[in-house]
Amino acid sequence: INLLADDINLWKKSTLNEILKRGELRACLDPGYMPFEMKDKKGRIIGYDIDFGKKMAKEMGVKFTPVSTAWDGIIAALITGKCDIIMSAMTITQQRNLKINFADPYVVIGQTVLIDKNLEGKIKEAKDLDKPGYTIVTKLGVTGEIVARKFFQNAKVITFETEADAAAEVLNGKAHAFIYDQPYNILFMTDKGKGKLVHLDTPLTYEPLGWAIRKGDPDFLNWLNNFLRQTKEDKLVDFHGKLNKKWLQD
Ligand code: ARG
Repeated sequence: INLLADDINLWKKSTLNEILKRGELRACLDPGYMPFEMKDKKGRIIGYDIDFGKKMAKEMGVKFTPVSTAWDGIIAALITGKCDIIMSAMTITQQRNLKINFADPYVVIGQTVLIDKNLEGKIKEAKDLDKPGYTIVTKLGVTGEIVARKFFQNAKVITFETEADAAAEVLNGKAHAFIYDQPYNILFMTDKGKGKLVHLDTPLTYEPLGWAIRKGDPDFLNWLNNFLRQTKEDKLVDFHGKLNKKWLQD
């Protein structure tokens, strides 16, 4: 009888239960990272994570609401209950994992580098940038910043609030290189970088991306991992495959 009472209490406390009662799944995300979350011309948030979130909400029978959140405070926003889940191409790092839980990875990416085309030939691989006189830019608080500060200790590292502002520095000749997640860099090259930047596209890191939830919620975590496996393995519907084709050109 005690066991049953414990189970019921756990379920009552689960975010999953709150979502169902509310009829709404709220996901924190920081738009600006194409193709995962970005604004279209009309200002609507679209992308890989949005499609996944809508599918998630559909399976729960609730509506999906993206909660636009600055990257810098996104973990705090989750912890303080501004949303139920972070769906924002977040890399599962051991440090973040001390504060929050992650569902299994839904995509694996790595850091790559965009350099000024004028440096072509001079900079053959990322580590050539680790010299005084070189300025490397990235976004504040992302894994790109961690990697830049760790592996380019002799260069100057500058961070910006948004990935677009950071990348623009290289286009404007104010920085030598931009380090960020590979999917963004691939799109930035076709979008604005053609003829102006060179993509050093060998991933420097291994970065599984995962949805994050508050700690101590096994019911929600269990739901998410089973949902993820089903969307990956069900070849008849092939949700995950179609999503990769639509947004990642896989
Ligand atoms: N994967 C990187 C990280 O976790 C960058 C994610 C940034 N996400 C975003 N929606 N702007 O640090």
